[in-house]
Amino acid sequence: MHTVETDVLIVGSGPAGASAALALSTYGVRNMVVTRYASLADTPRAHITNQRTMEVLRDLGVEQDVIAKATPQHLMGDTTFCTSLAGEELGRVRSWGNDPLVQAAHELASPTRMCDMPQHLMEPVLVDAAIARGTDFRFSTVYRSFEQDAGGVTVTVEDRLRGDAYTIRAKYLIGADGGRSQVAEDAGLPMGGQMGVAGSVNIVFDADLSRYTAHRPSTLYWVLAPGATVGGIGAGLVRCVRPWNEWLIVWGYDVTAGAPDLTEEYALSVVRQLVGDDEIPVTIKSSSAWTVNEMYAETYANGRVFCAGDAVHRHPPSNGLGSNTSIQDSHNLAWKLKLVLDGVASPKLLDTYDAERAPVGKQIVTRANKSIAETAPIFEALDGLSPQTPEQLWANIAARKDATEAAAKQRAALREAIAFKVYEFNAHGVDLNQRYTSAAVVPDGTPDPGFTRDPELYHQPSSRPGAKLPHAWLTRGTRTLSTLDTVGKGRFTLLTGIGGEAWLRAAEAQPLDIATVVVGPGQEYEDPYGDWARLSEISDAGVLLVRPDGYVAFRHAGGSEDAERLLTDALRRILGHG
Ligand code: FDA
Repeated sequence: MHTVETDVLIVGSGPAGASAALALSTYGVRNMVVTRYASLADTPRAHITNQRTMEVLRDLGVEQDVIAKATPQHLMGDTTFCTSLAGEELGRVRSWGNDPLVQAAHELASPTRMCDMPQHLMEPVLVDAAIARGTDFRFSTVYRSFEQDAGGVTVTVEDRLRGDAYTIRAKYLIGADGGRSQVAEDAGLPMGGQMGVAGSVNIVFDADLSRYTAHRPSTLYWVLAPGATVGGIGAGLVRCVRPWNEWLIVWGYDVTAGAPDLTEEYALSVVRQLVGDDEIPVTIKSSSAWTVNEMYAETYANGRVFCAGDAVHRHPPSNGLGSNTSIQDSHNLAWKLKLVLDGVASPKLLDTYDAERAPVGKQIVTRANKSIAETAPIFEALDGLSPQTPEQLWANIAARKDATEAAAKQRAALREAIAFKVYEFNAHGVDLNQRYTSAAVVPDGTPDPGFTRDPELYHQPSSRPGAKLPHAWLTRGTRTLSTLDTVGKGRFTLLTGIGGEAWLRAAEAQPLDIATVVVGPGQEYEDPYGDWARLSEISDAGVLLVRPDGYVAFRHAGGSEDAERLLTDALRRILGHG
């Protein structure tokens, strides 16, 4: 059989596969993508793009391309609960960083802003850039099987155009083949949790809904209506794809009864119910059925085979974590593959991918499913969980307007239940607080002070090894740039200040390329606001060694006579030579 060769073969061109290809090509690693269909995603799918993902995209040089196509943060933010778009409004949650206090936290946490970037727009940005930087991309090519040995992986694929099979010999294989991953199954990755917890239908349609949405701009409008608690993701959902005339409805079905027949008539009836205005012209573009899953892989790798994205974490769209986590998986893996392929790191470094990302996957699967359950109190407040008839539900909803003590209680319960949804729509800590524990992180021996506020809601920056480098604005001449802009691009970076010369000499003595950043008055970088001095948790003569993915690998609070030995030992451990 015909065989082609590459260093890293990626199966799948969704957010996980496309970003793996982009990162590897950016780092100069030879890679190839095979993907089943003749085109990229043709429906909007995942869309919420959080600050951490935007930081990754900034590092990979495509942040501005995404911003140019995305719906900006200020149009994402008034998550609205209503009986239909044209019906009664029950309340709102300021979301996705649009609450003034959370907005400040977003500005302080990162040089980037979150945005709404539907998957069918995101994938071309990632794939175009990957191809421009060298990825060998093969559409209409289906993964069939793999065999691995001590030197590499031999993958059999089927070319759907020619109808024949060939093999690809790679040093490493990344299975980014989504929620029904054949690669994960063939690799025997053990899975925890459950598939098919509930049934959902996605309906994509065009309609000018600006009269019901432009005054309360939001990505998500939740509809509490008869049937809205059956299956699905907590309630009916009208999601904005493009403001305010392209939309996606998520509507549940009873998974034990099977998916409904997705005729145009069915789709239109759901749209009519959730929009609540039959006069508005509607064009149905597509409908598809899917299930809510609560499943995660216990391990992400088997030998030379690594899985990323939905292949290893399968969960509902609540909290908007799907493509974010997938892109972040690949960013974590790509630099490790680069250093191992270059012979700089031992293959042991690759074990840290699993150690660092599997706990994140489990956490986000749990969070997303918990968010579904946390919608129920809104229905409970309206006494609307199991009304016998639609009329009874409407009567229960109307009762909140009465001038009675019971109605006052109902109003308070409703306000509280809606406000609690901040855990789904403003969970800044879920987005940014990942802390890694692995062999690629060297603890500095200081006790972990833990999180002082709710770690799901609030981001807490830290320079502890295993945490993401804190963001602070620095200046370099007339330019203002983030600490995050001084790191990444596939390299380790050493940050120090005045008195840190021993660390700079130690960096130069290492066998790998380490960028150096000195912050202080009269240095290349200055800290005019004093933010870095407050956030860095080291003295001027101390040091942070930051990995190519922006996470702190090693820190020493002060200067040291023994800097070269300390840095050499730390790098040996991080690179798997220890
Ligand atoms: P993803 O599923 O995006 O990509 C998998 C890739 O692998 C695809 O390119 C596929 O063609 C390819 N592939 C699969 N098997 C292959 C094989 N054997 N050989 C070659 N290629 C193969 N999320 C959300 O937040 N909001 C939403 O509304 C939706 N809606 C939605 C709708 C639909 C229809 C789907 C499928 C998914 C969603 N999601 C979603 C989930 C979201 O899309 C998901 O979390 C991310 O796309 C995960 O990215 P991955 O790259 O891991 O998988």
